[in-house]
This record gives sequence, C-alpha cells and structure tokens, in this order.
Amino acid sequence: MQPQIRNSFLWGGAISAHQCEGAYQEDGKGLITNDLYCLNSETKEREVHFPINSAQYYPTHHAIDFYHTYKEDIAMMSEMGIKCLRFSINWARIFPNGDDDQPNEKGLTFYDSLLDELEKYHIEPIVTISHFEIPYHLVEKYGSWSSRDMIDFYITYCEVLFNRYHQRVKKWITFNEINVVTYKSEMTTGIHTDDMQVMLQMAHYQMVASAKAVRLAKKIDPEMQIGMMLMYGPTYPENCHPENVLKAIHYNDESYYFAEVMTQGYYSNKAKALWRSHQMQIDLTSEDEVDLINGRVDFIAISYYMSWTTNDESTDGNMSSGGINPYLEQSKWGWQIDPVGLRISLNELYDRFKKPIFIVENGLGHEDKLIQGKIHDDYRIDYMRQHLNQMIKAIEEDGVDVMGYCVWGIIDLISASKFEMKKRYGMIYVDRDDFGNGTNKRYRKDSFYWYKKVIETNGKEL
Ligand code: BG6
Repeated sequence: MQPQIRNSFLWGGAISAHQCEGAYQEDGKGLITNDLYCLNSETKEREVHFPINSAQYYPTHHAIDFYHTYKEDIAMMSEMGIKCLRFSINWARIFPNGDDDQPNEKGLTFYDSLLDELEKYHIEPIVTISHFEIPYHLVEKYGSWSSRDMIDFYITYCEVLFNRYHQRVKKWITFNEINVVTYKSEMTTGIHTDDMQVMLQMAHYQMVASAKAVRLAKKIDPEMQIGMMLMYGPTYPENCHPENVLKAIHYNDESYYFAEVMTQGYYSNKAKALWRSHQMQIDLTSEDEVDLINGRVDFIAISYYMSWTTNDESTDGNMSSGGINPYLEQSKWGWQIDPVGLRISLNELYDRFKKPIFIVENGLGHEDKLIQGKIHDDYRIDYMRQHLNQMIKAIEEDGVDVMGYCVWGIIDLISASKFEMKKRYGMIYVDRDDFGNGTNKRYRKDSFYWYKKVIETNGKEL
C-alpha cells in the first residue's frame, strides 16, 4: 500500500518568543541579545546598542504583544484547526541573566498559562528551547557559546523546563537552526565572527549541550522526543560540469555536518578532514564523545524557504545570500521560490539520516494590504499550495517519513533578519507597522480560510 499522510499528521504553525511576545522587561525577564537590536530607518538594517537608547525603537520590546494577547491569538489559531503550535521559550524569562541560582517563577507561570490555552483547544505544543534567544549577560560575561561554561547554563535551563513541563510537552527542539552559526553567528550566539574555527567550536559546544539535553530528557520522561533543527535548502550545481557538482556537494556538506553529529553521535571522517584542511583545533574531549553518542536526537526538524546554486551571481536568502537559479522566481526580498526543492530536501535528508522529518517552518514573506478588514493573499496561498503538493509527493511517492508541517509565522510577527513588520508571513494579519504604530488588531487573511480547509481534509484539498 502507498504511504499516505497519516491521520495524526501535525498540521500547525510556528512562532518564536522574541519575534512575537514583546513585554521585554515584564515579570522579571532579563535582556536577550535580540533586545539590543534596533531598526532605525526603512533603509538601514539593524543596529546593536548597549545600553538601550530610549530615543530609538526596538522591535522585540513590543513585537506583536503576544505576551498579553496569547489567549485571543490561540483562540483564533484554533479556528484554523491547527494540531500543533511550535513556539519558543524565552531563556531570559526563566533565567534573566542565564547564570542565576534560581529560575524566575513568573516566567515559568507565563508558559504554564500558554500551555493551558493550547490544551484547551487540543493543540500540541512543540517547544524550541532556544530560538536565537540568549540572555545578554551570558554574552557579556562568558562570551556566549565560545565558552564551554555555556553547556552547564543551558542544561540547568533545560532541567527546569523538562521537570516543569514534561507532562505537557512531548516534543522539543534544542536549538533553532543550529547550522546558522556558520552563516550569521551573531544570530544564534550573540557573537559576530567570520573565523570558521570559532564558529565550529561554538557549534561543538551547542551540539554537546543538545546531546546532554537529550539524555536528560529521556531520564526525566522517556516519552519526550527531542529534535535537532537545520535551516535547510539544497544547493544545486550551476551546470553539470564536474567541478560544479563537487562544489555543490561541499556546500551541502555544511548542513550535513550538523545533522551527522546529532543523529549519528560522532564526527565523520569528512568533518575531521575539514578541520585538518583548515588547521582547526576543536576542543573535543573524550567525555564529549560519550555525550554525543548517548544523546542522539529522535527527529530532524527543518525550516525550508528556498534553494541556492553554485552560481557566483548571488541573491539574498535566509540568513545568507546564495547563487542565483535562472529557473526560479524570487520573493520581494530576493528569496528564490522552489517548491520542488522541498521534495528534494526531504528526500536528501531522509535518505542520509533515516530519521523522521518535521517541517517546522515554511512560508512566504510578503507585504500585505489590509482593505476594509480583508487581506487577499492569493500569492501566499499559491506558495503554500505548491510546497504542500511537493511535500505530499515526498510522503506518498517517495516514502519519506514526515511528521508534520508548520507554517512559519502563522500570525504576523517581526522578521528575524531585518526586524521589519512589513515582511509578513502570517495567516492572521496584525495591524502594526515597522515602528510599532497601528491598532494591533488581528484580521483573518484569505490564507486563513484556505489553510483551515487543508487541515480539515488532511491535505486532500489544497
Ligand atoms: C528562520 C527563522 O530562519 O526564518 C525565523 O527561524 C525567521 O526566526 C524565518 O523569522 C524567516 O526569516 P525572516 O528574516 O524573513 O524573518
């Protein structure tokens, strides 16, 4: 019999704490790295300030105010029939400085209440433990993930989360897009570096921390499933010249590097050859080796938005620019739209790592027009329809084990790369602009009704 989308398929939405919560100093929350980024003009990208300059606007400080509106927002999401919501816990709500002796009870209570709401509507929580949210104090005092000390701070944080929520949260992702450290290290670690040795050292400590978290989770509650997450999109050879094919293999290896360690539990010969060829010395102890092998993940989560090529002419993309593909269209932000690339990605990752794959982010960033309370976002529907079509082919024709699909930014939120509001992904519109002006009222877009139908029919009606 042909494999089919299972009835328990997790149709859902994804958000992250710093892109939607706001309330950046409420109930004892400490500062995270992203709280220091300011968007100060339409043309400029973000600037980092410390201390905070009260004359400037910092998008995360208010975001879409989800901290106060989560009840109404979740009620609206539940109307779509979503089966799961992926969200992150803001580390600095639980440990304001990251190295505190005790967790902040008010922060924990907030997530208790969020989980209550999800339970009310039978929406399964999928929790990202760190989605680019790092207590700023850890960056200042310890140099963030360039220090081995971070492993202990992270595990203390995980222990609190697992003990508190294990009965209610069964699926966790240890780090959002762990491979982004090699593209934009400041995003995942708060430390900007172009030095590959430093990046891979930080990645190593994160992977050891993730492995220890897996082990700890299984000890506390063996029912908990833990995933690693990649920002994934294939790089194609520009043409069939063997040198180009080889170049594409090497590009793709950058993502496999992470998936290999976290699913297999050790660095491959290829990874070690990379260290040697760049004269890198990675601080990898024999204890780390034991941790890695004992802390292999249960599933691979991916964000998928686009693909690249080995072409030297490049366009903008998620966290990095990449080679242009003349066969593909681009979004307004220069991201290449490639639905077949999703099917290719699912095949590639499943063939290599033989783990279930969870698409925890996919969607289209686009400007929307609110006209008389309506948003006609047929471009978004079209994007998602094409991607879902390819996902279904990967499941039904190629036999890939896909656990679920979460549309990114199911509700409009601030963009991670530019901190703009106008780059919208949601199916729920939030009336707020780049500088926080607006009513903050929510509206259902056309895609809201479309996705509801997709979920109702378990993907049969796209
Ligand atoms: C992913 C991140 O890389 O891409 C999200 O996990 C992010 O946090 C999403 O929002 C889309 O990127 P952007 O820059 O358009 O918000």
